[in-house]
Amino acid sequence: FSGTNTIPVIFHIIYSSSSENILDSQLNDQIEALQEDFNANNPNNQNIPLDFQGIEANIGVNFKLAGVVRVQSKKRSWRPDDSMKFTSSGGSDVIDPEHYLNIWVVNSMPYMGGYILGYAQFPGGSWSTDGIVLDHRFVGITQYSTGRTATHEIGHWMDLRHIWGDGPCGYDDYVVDTPEADSYNTGCYTYPGPTSCNSHDMFMNFMDYTDDTCMNLFTIGQKARMAATFNAENSFRKN
Ligand code: ARG
Ligand code: ZN
Ligand code: CA
Repeated sequence: FSGTNTIPVIFHIIYSSSSENILDSQLNDQIEALQEDFNANNPNNQNIPLDFQGIEANIGVNFKLAGVVRVQSKKRSWRPDDSMKFTSSGGSDVIDPEHYLNIWVVNSMPYMGGYILGYAQFPGGSWSTDGIVLDHRFVGITQYSTGRTATHEIGHWMDLRHIWGDGPCGYDDYVVDTPEADSYNTGCYTYPGPTSCNSHDMFMNFMDYTDDTCMNLFTIGQKARMAATFNAENSFRKN
């Protein structure tokens, strides 16, 4: 990215009870967290280990709140099947996805005895489902969140893979400066922490599965992948 790049964001708040109809202040806190994470300005990036400090990228993208759609729905519990993205299935239809990042916020998405915090669509899918989905408890600053679920999911939306390449050693995230890892990490560590595939894991990368308070960087290689989906002549997010 070069110059000033601003991504306007539209939130679709799909709620059944009033506590799920989260306040604009929670949305503003989320935008503020994205501003920090995508401008190398997050408070915990002072914790980036010395080994990785040289490859931290300032992505150089700004986010601004462009609109909020609030839809009351009879549905409380959702599956990660895009049903929240259509008015006809109790959700809210996408708005101008070539020019806006659409973020759908739902009550919760139970999955395998737990919850999915959020999920994303990679570049190149149907425009009607383009964007990210978040559980309302993980939007902005809450008792469960410092806003990094959106950072992680927007990473996917900008074409980033998980840092461990979604497979054991040998599986790649197609980014040269992120070390190979055998699997994801959860919780948090003091560096060096876990080692796999003959290198220290970059468990503090936004594209791992560690705690919000543990995550603090994207790399220069990740930035190159993100930029490619916006900048090239015929790239998916050129608009
Ligand atoms: N899709 C992932 C999940 O639902 C998101 C993980 C985000 N991690 C985080 N610390 N916020 O588990
Ligand atoms: Zn992910
Ligand atoms: Ca890599």
